[in-house]
Amino acid sequence: MSGQPLLVTERLLLRPFSLADAPAVQRLAGDYEVASRTLEIPYPYPDGAAEDWIATHRPGFEKGMHAIYAATLAPDGDLVGAVGLVEVNRRHGRAELGYWVAKSCWGQGYATEAARAMIEYGFSVLGLHRVYAMHFSRNPASGRVMEKCGMMREARFRGHARKWDVYEDVDVWGVLHDDWRKRCTEPAIRECRVR
Ligand SMILES: CC(C)(COP(=O)(O)OP(=O)(O)OC[C@H]1O[C@@H](n2cnc3c(N)ncnc32)[C@H](O)[C@@H]1OP(=O)(O)O)[C@@H](O)C(=O)NCCC(=O)NCCS
Repeated sequence: MSGQPLLVTERLLLRPFSLADAPAVQRLAGDYEVASRTLEIPYPYPDGAAEDWIATHRPGFEKGMHAIYAATLAPDGDLVGAVGLVEVNRRHGRAELGYWVAKSCWGQGYATEAARAMIEYGFSVLGLHRVYAMHFSRNPASGRVMEKCGMMREARFRGHARKWDVYEDVDVWGVLHDDWRKRCTEPAIRECRVR
């Protein structure tokens, strides 16, 4: 299987994480404002956890389980955040979209730009039928990103997930390939560099 392609968007380069990114991941994802809004990111972020997470990316990609990207600012390469498709399920033709953006970069459209590229990747490269995403209901900014990506809010699951011993309501969003084709006239990925 060929390696994970690089994806170029209007302002971002999406590339695989390397172990050299681990300190930045620990610092940026380990920010309370970021960690507290995601299901899995711990706080405080333990030493070694970023390295362990990054080490799962390549084998998982090669097995077709996920495609996880570092979103970096083109051309200087600063890490802005992470975006990915996880829980890729070939039988059902679906995957779950996830992302986080460094606090200092919020409000500049980076999550939307990166998420749109991942959705397009899911449909045009992975051949998926559906991309879905979930956010804590108390985190409407993430819902707004999903809305701007052309996803539809499908449900609110009450008390669906436990974060730090609190049961949280979760909003579920989704987009089907047909909806995407109809709604998205501008390509989100400007270049897909297969390595
Ligand atoms: C959610 C997150 C990814 C958004 O990143 P971002 O780069 O700031 O997103 P964008 O700039 O593309 O879009 C954010 C949108 O949310 C809106 N927004 C911000 N705070 C909001 C709020 N409290 N209520 C509603 N909308 C809000 C912004 O105004 C913007 O919409 P607009 O373009 O219509 O003005 C970022 O805040 C983050 O990483 N949060 C912590 C981790 C997280 O929540 N990950 C997602 C888990 S599901």
